[in-house]
Amino acid sequence: MDIKAPRGVRDILPDESWRWAYVLDVTAKTMADFGHSEIHLPLFEQTELFSRGVGDTTDIVEKEMYNFTDRGGRNLTLRPEATAGMVRAAVEHGLCAQGAASRLWCWGAMFRYERPQKGRYRQFFQIDAETLGVSGAVADVEVIALSAEIFRRLGLRNLEVVLNSVGCPKCRPIYRDKLLKHFSAHKGELCKDCLVRLDRNPLRLLDCKEPGCGAVANAAPAIYDCLCDECAAHFEDVRNGLSGLGFRYTLDKRLVRGLDYYTKTAYEILSGDLGAQNAVCGGGRYDNLSESVGGPHLPGVGFAAGVDRIVLIMEEQGCSFGQCPQKEVYVVAQDDTPAVCNAVLSLTHRLRMEGIPAEQDAGDALGKKRSAKSQMKSADNAGVTWACLVSQDESHNIVIAMKNMNTGEQTTARPEEVARRVKESYNI
Ligand code: HAM
Repeated sequence: MDIKAPRGVRDILPDESWRWAYVLDVTAKTMADFGHSEIHLPLFEQTELFSRGVGDTTDIVEKEMYNFTDRGGRNLTLRPEATAGMVRAAVEHGLCAQGAASRLWCWGAMFRYERPQKGRYRQFFQIDAETLGVSGAVADVEVIALSAEIFRRLGLRNLEVVLNSVGCPKCRPIYRDKLLKHFSAHKGELCKDCLVRLDRNPLRLLDCKEPGCGAVANAAPAIYDCLCDECAAHFEDVRNGLSGLGFRYTLDKRLVRGLDYYTKTAYEILSGDLGAQNAVCGGGRYDNLSESVGGPHLPGVGFAAGVDRIVLIMEEQGCSFGQCPQKEVYVVAQDDTPAVCNAVLSLTHRLRMEGIPAEQDAGDALGKKRSAKSQMKSADNAGVTWACLVSQDESHNIVIAMKNMNTGEQTTARPEEVARRVKESYNI
């Protein structure tokens, strides 16, 4: 076939998809333990939600969004991230009306037109948790602890929590001016992109990966002296909360994150096993996001972690994904008489209703039944424990030979006995 999946977009094949299911199961349980309820958000939203929410000087909005106009002339965008949609949904449905914290989570595909490489795709999956409606540092600590706990339960090693504060609209302009002065004095060492960003958003220069810009950024002033009393106290509370829980973290004055909505806390969890795309999780506080998209004051804090990257690290570190779903029984028709074919159909269905994974031959591409020998070959390939060979005796009774594929032992059984025998064999 000439048609292939678009560049940067992957199929998650059955060999891998059960690993994803494991990651999502562990995530769902951990989210529930931390009081987060699951929400399903639309895959596309009005473009304005992201251009105003994420910020129109960000790479995401400037270069990476999949924008389109629908047949009704509406400007829509495939979501590049989930936070703005979560805030939109919470406001639209009054989820924070009681004034208490609203803890939500979701997972699903996000879309960014980035240059594909290992761990970076144009369609990728995130798990995302948000705590909305509260401004205290407890929520920040909880969110960071939640992300770390998911990774602990999944068995990920070699991770580093990196923390910073990006201040608020009160104190950030002071820091912005300091940065502008610093970077302007080193214009000759900056890359083309940074020269453009310099006037619009000098904070962005701090996370430029170009070596020249990196050296200038390393020498840049830190925000800490500029933080207002409120931001400084919040940062202190977050740090004390994390230390109180025994979390180790590194302060990084260059961590500003690639989205404009952050205020106060910004953090990432980095993996030593991911190469260039080393962030497995990123998040922080965004107290003004709701207002920037026309909503009420609604403080929030959250994180998102890349599922593609989690699975990649787990595979590289040899982490356990639990049990690959087993195929237990293959039901084989010894001949193609209607009585035997019906018995195969009904035995397979009966086993499935008992919760025993069972397969049968569905014929070939031309609709022809396959021989008993080919069916046994399929049973072998499927790795089942039991092959149930269905035939008729001279008195036209259906008989079943149960062959244990591990030991080669074979016994006969009536159709109604098969499920019980299979279940008994689990307990041996
Ligand atoms: P983000 O840092 O843009 O933050 O993305 C979070 C995580 O998604 C990254 O750490 C990475 O694991 C994964 N990720 C991002 N882009 C890609 C890609 N192209 N391919 C594969 N994985 C990727 C956010 O999205 C914010 N909404 C996080 C947040 C939630 N902040 C507050 N609440």
